[in-house]
Amino acid sequence: MKIKALSIMTGMALAASSLASTTLTRDNGAPVGDNQNSYTAGENGSVLLQDVQLIQKLQRFARERIPERVVHARGTGMHGEFVATEDISDLTKASLFEEGKTTPVFVRISTVIHSKGSPETLRDPRGFATKFYTDEGNWDLVGNNLPVFFIRDAIKFPDMVHSLKPSPVTNKQDANRVFDFFSHVPEATHMFTRVYSDYGTPASLREMDGFGVHAYKFINKKGAVNYVKFQWKSQQGINNLNAKQASAVQAKDFSHATNDLYANIAKGNYPKWDLYIKVMDPKDLGNHSYNPLDATKVWDDVKDKKVGTMTLNRTPNNFFQETEQAAFAPANLVPGIEPSEDRLLQGRVFSYADTQMYRLGANHQQLPINRARVEVNNWNQDGKGNIGSQTSEVNYQPSRKDNRVEAPTGRYSNAALVGKTQQMKITKEDNFTQAGNLYRSFSASQKSNLISNLAGDLGGVKDSETKHIMLSYFYQADKDFGMRLTKAVKGNIKKVKQLAKK
Ligand code: HEM
Repeated sequence: MKIKALSIMTGMALAASSLASTTLTRDNGAPVGDNQNSYTAGENGSVLLQDVQLIQKLQRFARERIPERVVHARGTGMHGEFVATEDISDLTKASLFEEGKTTPVFVRISTVIHSKGSPETLRDPRGFATKFYTDEGNWDLVGNNLPVFFIRDAIKFPDMVHSLKPSPVTNKQDANRVFDFFSHVPEATHMFTRVYSDYGTPASLREMDGFGVHAYKFINKKGAVNYVKFQWKSQQGINNLNAKQASAVQAKDFSHATNDLYANIAKGNYPKWDLYIKVMDPKDLGNHSYNPLDATKVWDDVKDKKVGTMTLNRTPNNFFQETEQAAFAPANLVPGIEPSEDRLLQGRVFSYADTQMYRLGANHQQLPINRARVEVNNWNQDGKGNIGSQTSEVNYQPSRKDNRVEAPTGRYSNAALVGKTQQMKITKEDNFTQAGNLYRSFSASQKSNLISNLAGDLGGVKDSETKHIMLSYFYQADKDFGMRLTKAVKGNIKKVKQLAKK
């Protein structure tokens, strides 16, 4: 730990030291006399409890781990910058989108389900999280490399993750559990069609796109609202591994994605992504065959346009301090960008900051990697690990003794409300059309790989009902898809057709 850096943050001056800068010290700054031999009562006597260096070393070692992320535990991060290239002030007042402006970013790309040390080759969506350190606070765009998600309501998320994670009994991932859950979730058909294609095993992190997935809201200076979706398009192109290639890579290197990224950045081959947006007038929300606020759908009938470019050009100096302690949250929004009413997103707006208070503590936004690059001014205070610099006696508002005020630009937008409170499915579920369109857009080899990848897992499912319900979903997406898959898993096509009619 380098305390000098900390002193700069807290504004506390360091005392002049009589020790050389190379002197090994304990955490209290006192010099270490011997870092190789414990303090003992003679040659064969016991180790003394008063050996504070030994005790501190063991204590700190025992506390090195923090809980890993409950999902997306395996990831790699890097620094870079985003340059806005278009004037979109008619759409958003977000200052980072002022044409020509450069904003520093930190990006973390991850797999979802398996733990921190798991291979990077595994089939999974890839998380694609970007923290923009804007001049109006941090904006986190916490997305994936696939444009849709498995579910459309946050209330299903913990169950979904439980089914995908290793079994609580055997600690092994089990397709029986996965498909037992998903046979009740037809809206996942679209995401399954993507994740079981070779897009579920990207060749490198540089050669994949990123998607915000949800609709967000753009608000301009006049308060006008538009829905918006974000996509990072890789300038490196897209390159995926088929199942055979993925296992060959895994046999040699289970950190291939991190290694590729670090190696390319080290040689100055900086990866770049262009940011594209799709915009929808709220008046048009009902004019599509799908519900635009449903995270299982793409806006395939809306054109996109480029608004900027991101370059990743610097790897972290310390993995734990920067990548592991990075905390991305959909709640980190700036004026001009708001969440849409998407039910999945609304749950995420709560969930990330909440888990990060558990994983990293209430003051995690004060950590250097998470800290806003603008002054943070409020009366949230104290808590474990606080390194803020609150010096005023006034820790409340309003007050005649403190001139800090709200900014009108930070006010949330207004929206007309309709309807009644309810707990109901969305009306336009349409669980299969886009999955079928996607299947039909694949080349012959993409289709074959998708079917063999899916059959590999679905074929092992013991419960016939579960297997056939899943098959009926793929059949409803596309008949050829369902029939080929049924054949590949030795299912009963009559049964599949019957279930599809229900
Ligand atoms: C209601 C649905 C969801 C919930 C409740 C949820 C919850 C979580 C939680 C608790 C974490 C761990 C955060 C941390 O410890 O720092 C996480 C990480 C993450 N989630 Fe989600 N998630 C949901 C859906 C999604 C969706 C739809 C996406 C993509 C659009 C996504 C992308 C990510 C990414 C990229 C990370 C890793 C961030 C990082 O690199 O630190 N999640 N999620």
